[in-house]
Amino acid sequence: MLTVKGLCTEYVNERKQAIRAAHDVSFDVPPGKLFTLLGPSGCGKTTTLRSIAGLERPQAGEIRVGDEVIYSSARRIFVPPNQRGLGMVFQSYAIWPHMTVYENAAFPLRVGRRRRFSRREIDERVNRVLATVDLAELAQREATKLSGGQQQRLALARALVMEPRLLLLDEPLSNLDAKLRERMRFELKRLQRELGITTVYVTHDQSEALALSHAIAVMSRGRIEQIGTPREIYERPVNQFVADFVGSSNFLDATVRAADGANGFYRVESALGVMKALGLEPLQADDKVVVSVRPEDVHLSEARPDGENVWQGMVDQKVFLGESVDFQVVVGERRVQARAHPSLRTRVGEPIYLRVEPEKCVALKA
Ligand SMILES: Nc1ncnc2c1ncn2[C@@H]1O[C@H](COP(=O)(O)OP(=O)(O)O)[C@@H](O)[C@H]1O
Ligand SMILES: [Mg+2]
Repeated sequence: MLTVKGLCTEYVNERKQAIRAAHDVSFDVPPGKLFTLLGPSGCGKTTTLRSIAGLERPQAGEIRVGDEVIYSSARRIFVPPNQRGLGMVFQSYAIWPHMTVYENAAFPLRVGRRRRFSRREIDERVNRVLATVDLAELAQREATKLSGGQQQRLALARALVMEPRLLLLDEPLSNLDAKLRERMRFELKRLQRELGITTVYVTHDQSEALALSHAIAVMSRGRIEQIGTPREIYERPVNQFVADFVGSSNFLDATVRAADGANGFYRVESALGVMKALGLEPLQADDKVVVSVRPEDVHLSEARPDGENVWQGMVDQKVFLGESVDFQVVVGERRVQARAHPSLRTRVGEPIYLRVEPEKCVALKA
């Protein structure tokens, strides 16, 4: 549905230097899917989205929506933004304060230059879209008298009312408080699924990306580091940046000793000692790697467990988080972070065993 190929977008800064905000960005979004650009502030997410919308002029690349080329540097094609048939919601969504909910949603239909809508058509479309986002009851209310979440849904309704073939959302939930943000997350997901509308979603919030997306592209400094399903990104990060940005991880410097069987496992030596880890690419003896282990994959117990990758340590710190407890455990010289169930009552200063499944020890090339 959407294909972005080799997209490069630069800005010129005050000192007339070119800033590569998006560099060689390529991805595909199949029809009806939600694709997320995830990365820290300044990594080029908004630039990529605005390039798709036609609000920036890229230096190179090609963008297609369905069969239509909307941008191509090689063929000198640049379809203007209002002819791209896209809906967009920005981080700072601006609803019109002096209008009602209904009028806000009808606004794009009234000013749309692509075609004129009859009064009846406008009425039908607005009522449908307000029902979709659950605002039908508030149609006549002044837009400023809506709550944050309702304003958010109104901004979405306004983007949907033109029935765009592609929806572009730039951090649409970032203005909301934590509780509402989580609820809107589920609403967005439901809406996107019900409408089956192809969506590109931008966020710096990894849990939002994991919860919402069919696929995620993790970006850093203008480039895509990895594209994959939420599970792939989380469980099989291709490098330390991705592993660190998406969730938190223990990173152990290690050296490969030998392959362990033929299914991608290796014996590696880290500060914890020799352990069994999963290599994401073929590794050789003496290769330097970083083994990434998620805190929730470190099993803690007071009795010595069976199995591989078992170490003994000492509880150094505990932080109670309600549904879980974060433990800092010292093993030799290393500090390992583990997340455990609150029923584990081992106290600071007491010994404890750690165990990690080999397939949860992901060896990344250093
Ligand atoms: N209009 C602009 N002029 C100059 N530099 C810009 C402009 N917009 C963004 N940038 C720079 O481009 C880079 C990417 O920005 P942006 O795409 O907004 O990142 P993100 O949305 O991931 O936070 C940043 O270094 C930013 O400072
Ligand atoms: Mg941005």
